[in-house]
Amino acid sequence: MSMIQDRMQSLAAQITAANIAYHQNDAPDVTDADYDGMKRELKALEAEHPDMAIPDSPTGQVGAPVAEGFGKVRHRVPMLSLGNAFETEDVQQFVRAVRAVSRNTQVTAEPKIDGLSLAIRYEQGQLVYAATRGDGETGEDVTENARTIQDIPQELTDAPDILEVRGEVYMSHADFAALNASQAAQGKKTFANPRNAAAGSLRQLNAKITAERKLSFFAYAWGDITDPPFKTQTGGVAMLARLGFKTNPFMVRTIDGSMDMATQLIEYHKDMDLRRADLGYDIDGIVYKVDDIAQQIAMGFRSTTPRWAVAHKFAAERAWTTLEGIDIQLGRTGVLSPVARLRPVNVGGVMVSNATLHNQDYIQGRGSDGSEIRGGHDLRLGDFVEIYRAGDVIPKVGLVDMSRRVASAAPYEFPAACPICASPVVREGSAHRCTGGLACAAQGRERLKHLVSRNSFDIEGFGDTLVDFFWDHPDLEIRTPAEIFTLEEVDGHLAHEKQAAGGSHLATLEGWGASSAAKLFKGIADARRTELSRVIYGIGIRHIGESTAALIARTFLTWESFHNAAVAVAEGDPEARDTFVALDGVGQAVLGALSESFAPGREREIIEDLVSHLDIIPEEAPKSSGSPVAGLTVVFTGTLIKMTRSEAKKQAEKLGAKVSGSVSRNTDILIAGPGAGSKAQKASDLGIKVIDEDAWIAMTS
Ligand code: IVH
Repeated sequence: MSMIQDRMQSLAAQITAANIAYHQNDAPDVTDADYDGMKRELKALEAEHPDMAIPDSPTGQVGAPVAEGFGKVRHRVPMLSLGNAFETEDVQQFVRAVRAVSRNTQVTAEPKIDGLSLAIRYEQGQLVYAATRGDGETGEDVTENARTIQDIPQELTDAPDILEVRGEVYMSHADFAALNASQAAQGKKTFANPRNAAAGSLRQLNAKITAERKLSFFAYAWGDITDPPFKTQTGGVAMLARLGFKTNPFMVRTIDGSMDMATQLIEYHKDMDLRRADLGYDIDGIVYKVDDIAQQIAMGFRSTTPRWAVAHKFAAERAWTTLEGIDIQLGRTGVLSPVARLRPVNVGGVMVSNATLHNQDYIQGRGSDGSEIRGGHDLRLGDFVEIYRAGDVIPKVGLVDMSRRVASAAPYEFPAACPICASPVVREGSAHRCTGGLACAAQGRERLKHLVSRNSFDIEGFGDTLVDFFWDHPDLEIRTPAEIFTLEEVDGHLAHEKQAAGGSHLATLEGWGASSAAKLFKGIADARRTELSRVIYGIGIRHIGESTAALIARTFLTWESFHNAAVAVAEGDPEARDTFVALDGVGQAVLGALSESFAPGREREIIEDLVSHLDIIPEEAPKSSGSPVAGLTVVFTGTLIKMTRSEAKKQAEKLGAKVSGSVSRNTDILIAGPGAGSKAQKASDLGIKVIDEDAWIAMTS
């Protein structure tokens, strides 16, 4: 394959993945600018090398197919996308194309609303269905959800017999802020921006949830329509307004006069760019449309975009403001993340008051590879800095205006002690980390969440929300792992003190009852007896992931012997260090982390306290001989039916096999379940034995 073909394939794959993230999962993972860039590059390559174009290239598609769980609606008139204009030159070209068809023509200009498009079909004035764009041909049936939106009339008077209204569902800044605040208060996920919030709210399988979210709708176009009573875009929009739809008040039309058409459009674009911050909802550009519908028909369409309309996007958002402070935030692993506190500034329609500062080097003017950023200037409190939003998600700091730095501004000093627990901070690579471990409150909460999770202790009914609930609870507070296991006892004492009927205080709390409390206590009691590998993983020592934990468990077999070895490592015992380093995948980083956790101190106490409540199942010594798969390298692919991937892996390792993630010449057996793809192909190409799950079970039991 040529390098060009390679590049085209890679761009197509990235665009497709981004489409799915954005349209199906409502969670964009590349910036709009990067996305547009990739699409432009692929289009250019396809234009230059049409012979190499990939069949089904994403440049020829709109959006993404219908997600699972929604009914489908076939659009009688396809829902298209718009071509983009970025530069003045692109706008001039559009105007030339319009003028080439007719000399005396006008063009409308209106905000491009940053939401998601919706088609609503009315028959004899009754709303019959509403559908998202989907892939343009087939959309998702969101009728019940759309009925909950105030701006959408349920019935129309004096409307064409059949009328499909098209427009944009969006969420205002005020409703977005209120939604995120309420999500956060309930411990639910917050949304990155109003568009995601609108999409996530409209595309709910449960319309009750949509009803609780405040969505808005602007009508700007139509699809299927019988006997349209208008001849222009402006006339059509006026009809929609008369029927009771909200239409955008900023829509204008060019006029014949002193300024040429392209100049009028660009002036309007500039003007709206200045106003957009005050609109109260996100817009990401201006849409220009030929006003005369006969001319729209004459100009027609490219494969997925009309020739008679174009979206003139706004440039990336930037704004200047004052750096008022630098705060430090901590995550589960204790990394100190500096955050810029800014005098609030409007960046492209969103008020920004924080920006990420990454690490100390970044603040000092050095990038991750040591090279200068920001011209090598550091950031100091009071500095005037440029803020930009990449892909509308996390704001970043761009330049610093050195001419406005006050003489008294001192360089920022990175903290040497953890701002939460005062433990010493150590530098690792470019990061700074708090050494407090479980004893640090900021890390404690996150580590409890890790401990109860599925691949750790897997406590039935105990998830992130309950960790937060108990962390903050005045009388049933849980701050350490051991306190999970003493919860029932504490609860019993409290019930006694408060003379609660039934012997449980928890059961009397709002949202709880006797059976839910009993269920939780049973889940906790069941988790007391647990495998060694889960304990080693669950206590959350840095750099010890699931597979390293399993390997350590298979090596030491019991908690006592692991614990003794870990304490010896912390004491600097060379023999103990060697035992660990001899293990595949264990290096200096793991040794350092073990030393930190098992040196005398609060962290070790917390771990030992936890273990005193447990009944740890010793690991069985691997059957290195005698097992039919001992010493073999196996790979699992596709869906396993009778066991989970991680159970299968554990069992294989117990039998002395090595489990690998990819097929190579060293693979001995590939276990392929339904849906196995390229790995099965590769294995059979290499002549490797391929068996199904049943055959594997027969072989190993
Ligand atoms: S007209 C055939 N007008 O932008 C063109 N679209 O990139 C029909 N959009 O799918 C669309 N505001 O979701 C039009 N004032 C506006 C718009 C608008 C936002 C969205 C719409 C469309 C996408 C195209």
